[in-house]
Amino acid sequence: MHLQLLSLAVLAISRITSGAPTCPKYTLIDTRGTFEPQGESIGFKPMINTTLITLPGGTRHDTFYPAAPDATQFTTLIGKNDIERFINSSLAACPTQTFALLGYSQGATVTNEVLRDFAPTSLQGSAIRAVVQIGNPYHLPYKQGNVDENGGSSTAGATGSLASLGITIPDAWYATGRVTDICYTADGVCNGFDASDSLSPAHLEYGFSDSVQNYGAKFLIGKLK
Ligand SMILES: *[C@@H]1O[C@H](CO)[C@@H](O)[C@H](O)[C@H]1NC(C)=O
Ligand SMILES: *[C@@H]1O[C@H](CO)[C@@H](O)[C@H](O)[C@H]1NC(C)=O
Repeated sequence: MHLQLLSLAVLAISRITSGAPTCPKYTLIDTRGTFEPQGESIGFKPMINTTLITLPGGTRHDTFYPAAPDATQFTTLIGKNDIERFINSSLAACPTQTFALLGYSQGATVTNEVLRDFAPTSLQGSAIRAVVQIGNPYHLPYKQGNVDENGGSSTAGATGSLASLGITIPDAWYATGRVTDICYTADGVCNGFDASDSLSPAHLEYGFSDSVQNYGAKFLIGKLK
């Protein structure tokens, strides 16, 4: 009994000191919206939890960036660089690891920027197996993966409030089927009548909607398994 405990302890120590990286199977890269404090976005907590519990071997990275209000969209470039650095270094250490990108509001803009830099066929792009956007200000009408809060098509034709600035998801990414862009009915940010995140209570509903969270978890699990 004691010997067994001892050998387990030795095993644990030798694993810690051996220096070999433990590679996650996948990482959920979660990018929060304007005004949310650094950390996990309120928009994805239940779907992240369900995915990590259902599919073992995964982990989470909270994109490091200010998420400050910024009409120039400059802060989003800080987030974009954080994600790209993270993916590059993760693939260098663990080449078979995969990723999902989750973006909320300004975080969706950050995610769009990454998708614009990494084509689906690139080394990094092929490792990105799923993209879940919520309240995307660059929502484009009638794209594959557009859904409303019930998984339906009532907002499929919406054009996001900042879409004319052009930081949109490339068509090649929609064509992969790895993207879903969830736009709540009456969320003015993705429906095009509120650029400031502040006029639409529906923009704040995603994290509290069982149907959004269940749909997102199912999408992530289906793509990452
Ligand atoms: C995560 O999911 C489990 C199982 O569904 C649940 O018991 C737990 O409360 C959840 N935790 C959080 C932080 O949501
Ligand atoms: C990630 O790697 C690519 C080459 O595959 C390089 O062009 C790019 O600058 C790198 N990005 C960062 C942020 O390190």
